Amino acid sequence: DDTYTLVVVRHGESTWNNENRFTGWKDVPLSDKGQEEAAQSGELIAESGLTFDVAYTSVLKRAINTLWCILEKTDLMWIPVNRSWRLNERHYGALQGLDKKETVAKHGMDQVMIWRRSYTTPPPLLADDSDDLPQNDRKYAGVDPADLPRAESLKLTKDRFLVEWENEIAPAIKSGKRILIVAHGNTIRGLCQHLDEISDEDIVGLDIPTGVPLVFTLDKDLKPITHPEAIPPLSARYLGDVSGIRARIEAVKAQTK
Ligand code: 3PG
Repeated sequence: DDTYTLVVVRHGESTWNNENRFTGWKDVPLSDKGQEEAAQSGELIAESGLTFDVAYTSVLKRAINTLWCILEKTDLMWIPVNRSWRLNERHYGALQGLDKKETVAKHGMDQVMIWRRSYTTPPPLLADDSDDLPQNDRKYAGVDPADLPRAESLKLTKDRFLVEWENEIAPAIKSGKRILIVAHGNTIRGLCQHLDEISDEDIVGLDIPTGVPLVFTLDKDLKPITHPEAIPPLSARYLGDVSGIRARIEAVKAQTK
């Protein structure tokens, strides 16, 4: 049949996910639980019989490590891997490192929800004398400094990710390459909004669980075909047991409560 399968996985739980801290571009490792989630996602993909020709990920170790676990479980450690800052988590600006619950106590739930989930409002800017400026990080030495953020809204995150999607990933899919993407909560929210044409209002309610493979079926124009087991507003299905997945989605929502 002339459809394409695209598999997208959010990295396993990171140490700062576990500590309820805003992470963004901070390069924190997977927690022990996150390593297990990464291995489980690899086993689910291997059991599903899905295979890949190329993988795409960010330049952050929590995503790269998750990809390595999946490639090991599927015996695909030999396939080409493309790493790009454009798949990084959204930049959380001055919120990076802050505890999400403390931030709610200080700024209120409404403001934190706007920073976490709104489409156009960026978090407060990273201070221009911060030690975490991407301009001072070797990972981004080859990137035009004008492209490097100090905070990103979901729109800004999606727009800089879509450059990679339009230029590299979509053409690879259309050429028949079977693609695996391992990225981050908000880059995946941006990709889902793009593919499933989710409104700026409805995207506020979309949370992506860590370490659960999301399987899209796309037609020849890369328009999604909704799977019967898809959880709205997504067209894609999650691999694994649905009740456990709903609990993990709720856990992402509850990080500020
Ligand atoms: C982070 O960057 O803090 C997380 O990876 C995503 O956090 P969020 O679910 O609060 O956007």
